[in-house]
Amino acid sequence: KTIDTLGDLRGKRVLVRSDFNVPLDGTTITDDGRIRAALPTLTALLDAGAKVIVTAHLGRPKGAPEPKYSLAPVAERLGELLGREVLLAEDTVGEDAKAKAQYLEEGQVLLLENIRFDARETSKDEAERGALADELALLADFFVSDGFGVVHRKQASVYDVAQRLPHAAGHLVFKEIDSLSRATGDPERPYAVVLGGSKVSDKLGVIGNLLTKADRLLIGGGMVFTFLAAKGYDVGTSLLEEDQVEAVKGYLRDAEANGVEIVLPTDIVVAPEFKADAPATVVPADAIPADQMGLDIGPDSGRLFAEKIADAKTVVWNGPMGVFEFDAFSAGTKAVAQAMQDAAGFTIVGGGDSAAAVRVLGFDEDKFDHISTGGGASLEYLEGKVLPGVAVLED
Ligand code: 3PG
Repeated sequence: KTIDTLGDLRGKRVLVRSDFNVPLDGTTITDDGRIRAALPTLTALLDAGAKVIVTAHLGRPKGAPEPKYSLAPVAERLGELLGREVLLAEDTVGEDAKAKAQYLEEGQVLLLENIRFDARETSKDEAERGALADELALLADFFVSDGFGVVHRKQASVYDVAQRLPHAAGHLVFKEIDSLSRATGDPERPYAVVLGGSKVSDKLGVIGNLLTKADRLLIGGGMVFTFLAAKGYDVGTSLLEEDQVEAVKGYLRDAEANGVEIVLPTDIVVAPEFKADAPATVVPADAIPADQMGLDIGPDSGRLFAEKIADAKTVVWNGPMGVFEFDAFSAGTKAVAQAMQDAAGFTIVGGGDSAAAVRVLGFDEDKFDHISTGGGASLEYLEGKVLPGVAVLED
C-alpha cells in the first residue's frame, strides 16, 4: 500500500521508520546518502499536512543510551536537507518523546532518539518487542515503513509496529523493490554480479543462490583471497578465511556444473602492510609473495572486469574491490564503478560500502540505474529471502 491509500493526512501523526544508519567520523556524517534517500517520503508527508515522527537506529548500541550513537548529527543534517527544523526527542518512547509528539504541529518533524537505546527493539522475544511497538504506536495514527536498509530485521520499529497501526510502504521501499526485482525472477541476460567486500562468510547465502541465477560472477575485495586459496594459490598475508576454503571449492564445482562463469582477478595490488602509504606493487594473482598482502585487484583485472560488465544486460555490484579508502588501493573499485556507469545494461549498486564508494570516489550517482540504500537487506532480497519488514506490509 502506498502512502496515498492512507487517506487525508492533514493534522494526523505519522510515524515513519527510516534507516539513518550513516557512517560517522566522531559527530561528522561522512556519507549522508541514506538521509537524502529518505526525503521523498518525508516531503510527501509534510506536503500532505502530516505531523511527522521519525524513528531510526544508528550503529549497534547495547540496548541502553550511548552518547556516541546519538541521532543528534542526523537531526541536524535532516533539518538542513529539509530546510526546516527537526526536533530531536531526548528519548525513544519516554516522557520527552511523548510530550514532543503531543505538541507537534502540522508540517513539523520530530526525530526520536536511537531506537536501539531500548533493548526491546532487537529482542528475540515477541512480547518484549510488542511492548515497545505498543508504545511507539501510541505516538501516532499511521505507520509508514521507509527504512529499506533495515527491512530484513524483525524488530519492533520495523515489524511489530506495522501490526499495530494502519500502514503503508514509503517511496524508498517501493523504489528499492522495484529496482532490485529486476535482478531477481527473470533478469535480462547476460546477468553479471560483481561481489567484493571482506568476508566470504557474509555472502555465503547470496553466492549459493547466485550460482543458480547469474551468468557470471566476478569476485574481488578481501573475499577473493579465499577463492584464490581454493584454487591452490598462495595468498601471502592477505585476508583468508581458512574455514571457508572447502565451501568455496564447492562453489567453484557448482559454478562449472551450472555453466556459471566465475571471473577471478588475474593480478593483485599487494603491499607489506595495511597502511595508506605502504609501498604498492602489482603481482600475478598466482604469485603473491609470502610477506605481502593483497589490498586491491590489479589493472589487468580491472580491465577484465570492465569487459565482463560492459556487455551484460543486468549488473549487480555489492562490495568494494579493494581498500578504496586508501588512494593507492582504490583503482580496482574505481574501474568497476566506471564500467558500471558506462554499461548499457541495467545497473544496481547494492550494499552500504559500494554505495559509499561510488559517492566518496566522486562518481555521479545519476549515472547508475539504482544505488541501493540496503546492505544486508539488498543481499537478502537478492538471495530470495522473505524480508519481514516487507512481508508485514503485505499481510
Ligand atoms: C545496515 O546498515 O545495513 C542497516 O542499517 C541495518 O543495520 P544492522 O545490520 O545493524 O541491523
